[in-house]
Amino acid sequence: MRWPPPVSPRRRRLLTAVLFFALCSIQGSYSQRLVTLDTIDIFTTHEWFPSKPTVYFHCTGEDKVYLPDVKEANSVYTFKGEESWQPLTELPEKKCKRCGLYEEDTFKHDMYDEWELCSSDFKADKYTHFKQGQFNATFLCPNCTASSGMAHNQCLCFSFVRIFQF
Ligand SMILES: *[C@@H]1O[C@H](CO)[C@@H](O)[C@H](O)[C@H]1NC(C)=O
Ligand SMILES: *[C@@H]1O[C@H](CO)[C@@H](O)[C@H](O)[C@H]1NC(C)=O
Repeated sequence: MRWPPPVSPRRRRLLTAVLFFALCSIQGSYSQRLVTLDTIDIFTTHEWFPSKPTVYFHCTGEDKVYLPDVKEANSVYTFKGEESWQPLTELPEKKCKRCGLYEEDTFKHDMYDEWELCSSDFKADKYTHFKQGQFNATFLCPNCTASSGMAHNQCLCFSFVRIFQF
């Protein structure tokens, strides 16, 4: 019977590098792109009666996310991102989601706007969606912009440090 030869230091270094690179890529590509609502200002309500609107956010194929605090037109609501109904959704890396803001009425659903929400629209963690006469909202997604790339680079850096230590 033959035992496998002991791993040479050179080989061990190579294996370690490969392992770290693999771990880094997994971490980079699996970073969650959670979208939260930062601020919203609705300019109108579609209610027929003088009652409070029921506003919700919805992406195709997902559950409605009700915004229980948004009741008055023309006032800016600011959120922490930690509210019970946050985050609004999670975005894939290279694919947009069709999402919108709606108002639920007794007899029908009214649309504020519906659009393609994309990871790549976020600049410096932030994306503003404005629709004339309807609403203005800012959304946050820290992992949609630099963060996943940065995490990857930090990881690479860490790998090099490890390689030179071995
Ligand atoms: C960013 O991604 C990391 C890694 O998957 C995850 O733990 C974190 O919750 C994400 N943060 C946001 C705000 O999406
Ligand atoms: C939309 O809201 C953001 C954040 O409150 C604000 O900075 C921006 O000026 C607003 N834009 C419009 C067109 O009202």
